[in-house]
Formats: sequence, structure tokens, C-alpha cells
Amino acid sequence: MSRKLVTLDDFTIDQTRQFPKATGQLSSLLRDIGLACKIINKQVNKAGLVDIIGQFGATNIQGEEQMKLDVYADETLINVLKRSEDCAGIASEENDDFVAFDDEYSHNSKYVVLFDPLDGSSNIDVNAPIGTIFVIYKRVTPLGQAVTAEDFLQDGSKLMAAGYVIYGSSTMLVYATRLGVNGFTLEPSIGEFCLSHPNMQVKENGKIYSLNQGNTCKFETATQQFLDYCMEDNKDEGRPYSHRYIGSMVADLHRTLIKGGIFLYPADKKNKNGKLRLMYECNPMAFIIEAAGGMASTGTERVLDVNPTELHQRVPIYIGSKNMVQQALSYIVE
Ligand code: AHG
Ligand code: MN
Ligand code: MN
Repeated sequence: MSRKLVTLDDFTIDQTRQFPKATGQLSSLLRDIGLACKIINKQVNKAGLVDIIGQFGATNIQGEEQMKLDVYADETLINVLKRSEDCAGIASEENDDFVAFDDEYSHNSKYVVLFDPLDGSSNIDVNAPIGTIFVIYKRVTPLGQAVTAEDFLQDGSKLMAAGYVIYGSSTMLVYATRLGVNGFTLEPSIGEFCLSHPNMQVKENGKIYSLNQGNTCKFETATQQFLDYCMEDNKDEGRPYSHRYIGSMVADLHRTLIKGGIFLYPADKKNKNGKLRLMYECNPMAFIIEAAGGMASTGTERVLDVNPTELHQRVPIYIGSKNMVQQALSYIVE
């Protein structure tokens, strides 16, 4: 029996048809993001050739500067989105401030995109998975002018869509809207993302915990207690749990989405807001995991309810299978 290949485009156009008033701009914006990620993917695949083509960030044999992969990813996304008719501006983990696209088309575009162009960059050298994380908001300022900070500093609960691309043993784009979460694997021979993981759901219970356990000496009591719980010998309740930590949020969350579990980057004695960025890492992942039936908290509130005050704000995060997140939160005394 032959199965019909559903490309990312087919899929989003189909989703748009479910809303008679939809203009299709969101699908075409997603197509543009997909295109940028395919370009980044090509460059990521060359990362192992550094001995031949020169280290990223260094000067190569022809005397040309090799662009660092995160800078390359950032510029690729900006260039593609600048040309997109549907994007009015971007904000990126790599840039201090947002960029409002200043042309007539962009002034009339409805959406802004925020992204972490390359997540897990310390994993490039060891050929472990890295990723790109993105989130799409509808602008709140009127059409016909350049977007402002107000368009970017919106609560996560207002976002329209979020996703990530994982550059792993295969390249996958996972995309979430309020209709659910779907995964698309890049089929290299046709250069298209094809639906491979429809309607992704995160398990209510998991058996894997994921955090940088090397930071134990800095952890607050609540994190220590949760760790003790995960490591406790309790056969009836299926513990000890397994510990897995790749060090790329995209890769750790991709596993969590597929196998269940919890990922946490909590506040510690030194870093009261944890490490990860609200706008580029925590909000998009919280939206995806919630859309798949999971949970995401800062320890004191739902991640998506945090009212952002600045673009590069950091928040602690507990995210994944509902019951595991609730268990971790149960040790936090306000
Ligand atoms: P980035 O490469 O975008 O700076 O992000 C790295 C982040 C995230 O991907 C990962 O979960 C975390 O840093 C790992 O931090 P530690 O090395 O402190 O564990
Ligand atoms: Mn990151
Ligand atoms: Mn990054």
C-alpha cells in the first residue's frame, strides 16, 4: 500500500482551510522559516569538515573569514524573513535589539518572529544534535508602520505558533499551533519536510529526568529534594529514573516530547533566573509541550503567563510530562 507524502506546505494549507477567514500568511511564513532552516541544515552538515574547510570563526586557506555557525544561522533567518511578505520584524538571541523591517511591504505585514538561531552550539564540535527554535506573534501595533518593542514583548499565551528544527541523525521540524503538534522529517532527496510524526502527545508520566546535574552544589533545597526523589530506589513506583542530558535544549526537549520525562533548568544559588531565555527558548518550548498535553512552569507560574519586560530575560523552567513537573513543583515552598 502506498502512503501519500504530506509536505509541510500541504499540511499547513490544509490547516488554513479549516479557518475560512484565514489568509494563509501564517503558512507562507512557516514555509520561509522552513527554507531558512534547510539552508542552515546544509551548513550544519559541513561542520565536521572543519579540518578541511577551516574552523568556523577562523580564517580559511583562501584568507576568507569562516562565519561562526550561530552567526550564519542568524543571518540566514534574517535575510530570508526580510524578503518574506509576511514578516514585519524579528528578534534573535544573537542580537541586542529587535530588527523592524523598514520597507512598505513589511510595514503591512502582520507577524513578528523571534528565534534562537542555533541552540546547543557547544555541541557542534562533538557532532551531537543542535537546533533552531522559533516563535510567531501577531503584531499589536497598527499596520502601515514599522513594528515596535510592544509587538515583541508579548506574553507567551498570545503567541500564534512555535516550533523548532533539530539537526540530528535526521533533520526534523516540529511545529505547534493551538490545533496540536506535528513533526516533519526532511527528505533530503526532494528537499521537503514531510509529515512523519502526526499529532504528537507528551506522556502524562515519564521515567527520564534531564538537567545539568553537575550544578548540584549550587541547587536550592527543592531541586535537591526532587533529585533525591528521582534517584530513590522504589521499584513499585518505577524509580530510580534514568538521567539523560544532551546540553542542547532542542535535543533534550525533542526526547521529552517523544519519550516523556522532565527537563529542568532551575534557579540556583547563583542564578536566580536560571539560564534559559524566556522569549527564544522557554516560551516556544512551553507552547509546544502544552499543545502536546504537557506542562511548563517557572517554579512559581506558568511559563506562558510570564509578562516579559525585556527581550533577553531569563526564567527558570520545569517542563515535560505533567505528573513529573507537578512532582518537581511540589518541593518548592513559596
Ligand atoms: P545556546 O547554544 O543557544 O546558547 O543554548 C544553550 C543552552 C541550551 O540549549 C541548553 O539546554 C543549555 O544551554 C545547557 O546549559 P549548561 O551547559 O549550563 O547545562
Ligand atoms: Mn539556546
Ligand atoms: Mn543560541
